[in-house]
Amino acid sequence: MPSVAPMSPDNLVAKLIPWYREVKRPLPWRRDRDPYRIWVSEVMLQQTTVTAVIPFYEKFTKSFPTLQALAKASEGDVLAHWAGLGYYSRARSLHKSARALAKLGTFPKTFAQLIELPGFGPYTSRAVASLAFGEAVGVVDGNVIRVLSRVLDLDLEWWKPRDRDLIQIEADRLAQARLENANVDPSDLNQALMELGATICTPKSPTCMLCPWGRLCRARKNESTHLRPRPKPRRESEIWLWTPEIIQRSDKRLLLVKNSYAPFLKGHLIWPGTATRLKTKPKSFHYKGGVTHHEIFVNVVASKKPSSKAELKRWAAVDAVWISPNEMKTKVPSSLIRKAVTLLELDDTTTT
Ligand code: ADE
Repeated sequence: MPSVAPMSPDNLVAKLIPWYREVKRPLPWRRDRDPYRIWVSEVMLQQTTVTAVIPFYEKFTKSFPTLQALAKASEGDVLAHWAGLGYYSRARSLHKSARALAKLGTFPKTFAQLIELPGFGPYTSRAVASLAFGEAVGVVDGNVIRVLSRVLDLDLEWWKPRDRDLIQIEADRLAQARLENANVDPSDLNQALMELGATICTPKSPTCMLCPWGRLCRARKNESTHLRPRPKPRRESEIWLWTPEIIQRSDKRLLLVKNSYAPFLKGHLIWPGTATRLKTKPKSFHYKGGVTHHEIFVNVVASKKPSSKAELKRWAAVDAVWISPNEMKTKVPSSLIRKAVTLLELDDTTTT
């Protein structure tokens, strides 16, 4: 295990905090320390950039200004407000957790309590505990991994739990630094690290001349900035042919099943069909898309009606649901799935 030579956290914090107080961006979730609003922002920021999140955050918190408002909302309404942010499972989980939290009556204040809640992982629990309640715990995201790997010149395989723990220890050490008379708040400390990574210590061309840690930075001194952090080895991409079958009942509802046959979009409601791994890209297909390391070529099988009562019964026996065309957007947020239906000329006037 590479050893991490100690660098005085007090020195680092003494340079970082005044810099942050001077340059910090006036982001909407920095206006107050409402744990609910901070929680929403952190869930959104786990998947998208700050610039992209701001309009969604403003609209979401206007419609659901409190935990109670979110808990009371319907899932469809929450998903509709999330549309465009992607990763809809996060919105479902946020909504479910809001209902559990609303029942508790108070918002738990510490990392140890928050991590016990459904839907709160280590990152979110640390972020809410420190940003909203000032607990001295480090918050480690991609920006923080980069900043700490460089300032301490850590040659770590940060994607592995053991090395990740070493970065967490360093982040905790900084969050716990208490400077005499400096009144350092762990919320500022954590957000300063994120800010440094987002604005100065960027992945490709960091502006070390403007960095508050320019003179302390070990990677800069050792000319290893471009090597830190190590690039995470990429998972080899896989080519898949997906052949969804669109089946529409006479009342216009469309058949979806809980995905247990394709390795991508696991657990989502998708069209019945088949998925086959290919060695090379197919020459003919309707459209293509990507989900994590899966490159997906889609060939839609034309719409058909279930031919018999026996067939309807068979679908009823598996994990199947019949969805009206106008429910598609909220029940099936992935456009890779929804697009199949737009290729076919389907009647979208549902009869109930
Ligand atoms: N990325 C994740 N959390 C953030 C925050 N609170 N401010 C800025 N960027 C972030």
